[in-house]
Amino acid sequence: LEAKVNVTFPLTPGERSRGYEVRIGPGLMDDLAGHLRSRCPAHRYAVITDSNLSPLFGERVLEQAREASGSADLFVFPAGEANKNRERWAELSDQLLTAGFGRDAAVLALGGGVVGDLAGFVAATYLRGLPYIQLPTSALAMIDSSVGGKTGVDTPAGKNLIGAFHQPELVVADIDTLRTLPQPELRSGLAEAVKHGVITDAEYFDWIVSASPAILDLAPEEVVRVVERSVRIKAFVVGEDEREGGVRKTLNFGHTIGHAVEALSGFTLLHGEAVAIGMVVEGVIGEKTAISDAGTADRVRDALRRFGLPNHVPRDMEADRILELTRVDKKARAGRVEYALVERIGTASRGTGSYGQPVEDEVVLAAIEACRG
Ligand SMILES: NC(=O)c1ccc[n+]([C@@H]2O[C@H](COP(=O)([O-])OP(=O)(O)OC[C@H]3O[C@@H](n4cnc5c(N)ncnc54)[C@H](O)[C@@H]3O)[C@@H](O)[C@H]2O)c1
Ligand SMILES: [Zn+2]
Repeated sequence: LEAKVNVTFPLTPGERSRGYEVRIGPGLMDDLAGHLRSRCPAHRYAVITDSNLSPLFGERVLEQAREASGSADLFVFPAGEANKNRERWAELSDQLLTAGFGRDAAVLALGGGVVGDLAGFVAATYLRGLPYIQLPTSALAMIDSSVGGKTGVDTPAGKNLIGAFHQPELVVADIDTLRTLPQPELRSGLAEAVKHGVITDAEYFDWIVSASPAILDLAPEEVVRVVERSVRIKAFVVGEDEREGGVRKTLNFGHTIGHAVEALSGFTLLHGEAVAIGMVVEGVIGEKTAISDAGTADRVRDALRRFGLPNHVPRDMEADRILELTRVDKKARAGRVEYALVERIGTASRGTGSYGQPVEDEVVLAAIEACRG
């Protein structure tokens, strides 16, 4: 049942090898030691996790890390996006310094995207960079955030504004961990998988729609398949474009509106829920600008419905406010908002040559109104 995906990058001068393996399957957490020894050997491991995951999996991962190196310590911070900040980054870094972690150490990031980003940023900066391993435990982290090497923290000015690119040595996604993940978190993470189908692979899109009941039931075969295919897509896209100049922008489908809706909800909407709404609106924007085939937005909406995800813009969200918030998105360049749109299910639009497409305000406003419940 296990799947493996290799993430590779073009070599830059002086580099001998670049890239890492993503292992996906059931029971992998109790079979870590050997992989740690071969893929990320260290004299000491720092296991960083949050307060929800520590009681669930902390001891098991520590045990494996100790078996691999003889020495490992657990560092726990309070769960939640609000803790993905510089204060927690400083605390964790200080705790590692106090515990005497040196350059021969490595970091294990055990958790969802918050742990992955924060622990990854600690690893990226500690003694100018320690190797690290991602052990994603949420659907979002397995499908999206554990691959690509983006690490960082939020600031009062916005999300993910301070960070670094730092690629892991290995990613191990034990799908059994999803059994304790709250249902809304599961559904929200799967929104990104639907997105992967929409932007690159019509066959994957059709499969994920038909397999949605099994996936939501956590049937192992289907879950391994969805994580594997999404990781393959993300790995291909980020491998082509490690630092986001071109094709990586296609991953932003649904996110220009999605980020605005997420912020406007005061973050009561989960990221994937907001992105689901964003994908429907951006599907309609695509149709209104004749970039997307007619019927594209309806197919996206139907897929999201099957995953129990929202697909209408909430009535209390004013279109003007959403539009305003799209302009402060960090992906806006020189104040110009560029949408990542699709031609049809399975094919991203190349836009103006860089996969981004400016859209008239009137079109955005009309698309938002067309997506009211
Ligand atoms: N680096 C990237 O490329 C990238 C991409 C997308 C998102 N992100 C980031 O990811 C974060 C969101 O990730 P997330 O949705 O995983 O959030 P999260 O890490 O906060 O996890 C969601 C909640 O589920 C809990 N949880 C996670 N796994 C669990 C499990 N197996 N059992 C029980 N509880 C579990 C967590 O403790 C948390 O309360 C955001 O900060 C976002 O910016 C990063
Ligand atoms: Zn996203």
